[in-house]
Amino acid sequence: MIYLKSEILRIKEEALKNLRELESTEALQELKVKILGKKGSLTAMLRQMGSLSPEERPIMGQVVNEVRTRLEQAWEERSAELDAMALQRRLATERIDITLPGTRISRGHIHPLTQVIEEIEDIFLGMGFQIAEGPEIESDYYNFEALNLPKEHPAREMQDSFYITEEILLRTQTSPVQVRTMEKLHPQLPVKIIAPGKVYRNDDDATHSPMFHQVEGLVVDQGIRMSDLKGILLNFSREMFGESREIRLRPSFFPFTEPSAEVDVSCMLCGGSGCRLCKGTGWIEILGSGMVHPKVLEMGGYNPQAVTGFAFGMGVERIAILKYGIEDMRLLFDNDLRFLQQF
Ligand code: DAH
Repeated sequence: MIYLKSEILRIKEEALKNLRELESTEALQELKVKILGKKGSLTAMLRQMGSLSPEERPIMGQVVNEVRTRLEQAWEERSAELDAMALQRRLATERIDITLPGTRISRGHIHPLTQVIEEIEDIFLGMGFQIAEGPEIESDYYNFEALNLPKEHPAREMQDSFYITEEILLRTQTSPVQVRTMEKLHPQLPVKIIAPGKVYRNDDDATHSPMFHQVEGLVVDQGIRMSDLKGILLNFSREMFGESREIRLRPSFFPFTEPSAEVDVSCMLCGGSGCRLCKGTGWIEILGSGMVHPKVLEMGGYNPQAVTGFAFGMGVERIAILKYGIEDMRLLFDNDLRFLQQF
């Protein structure tokens, strides 16, 4: 019995000592099994109690129970200690320093072409225009015929079209919106709209893309004159390219306007003295325009004896290139962030 008791006390002392040294909950659990488990050392002691006399047994039983209770309590304490330490460690490693600057989330922005379209819209809205739209998949009638371009008209070849059927094509210009708008509004006056949108032509090089953007303009009212056209476009050019710009109208031809004019703006790079951009002329072409052809007014439902109008059409990519000095129009469609981030 003496031996048994001292052995039990030895197990206890050793367990308490080990307990203090253990650093993890797992190791703690292992030690618990080794001592108090089914095959544990203390459990083995209990089994040996069979060899004791009936008087000795309860005394030993008490010793074993005391030791077990003491050990279990020690386990609880150490386990709580270890948990607290682990929590401290976690708090230390996961600590957030709220004084550090944040990580910048990079945000996209509006594409330069869209920016230019919105700027054009703003300028014309400021002059009392409204915004109209038309379909990109268009009929031959609106894209050509209603614009005074009958079938077999040679001017149709000015534009290489993407036909879907004989009668349906991707619109080659925003001009069809002129007739669609007049059909919708007549006999209301005035008609004063711009129509921005995508157009399509069978072209692809540094200055042409098969899809590009135009903004069409149309004003119809009683007594509209070419000087109105010039005034509106001068104002537009100055708001777009700077207060000191001048414009000039050069005679040209479009089937849907008569007379027709191409509009040049004084060079935004050299101011008109002549440079590489304007090829020494001092002028840069920005759009086509003219007085709406009587036949077009008529097809739109207006009486050409009673009203007149002007129209114009500009390429948005061209405006963007000139405004920002972009070398190759295709950059506008490449979606290269190094390019786009400059706007
Ligand atoms: N639609 C013409 C083109 O794509 C541009 C144009 C010229 C539009 C004269 C007009 C205009 O409204 O009057 O080349």
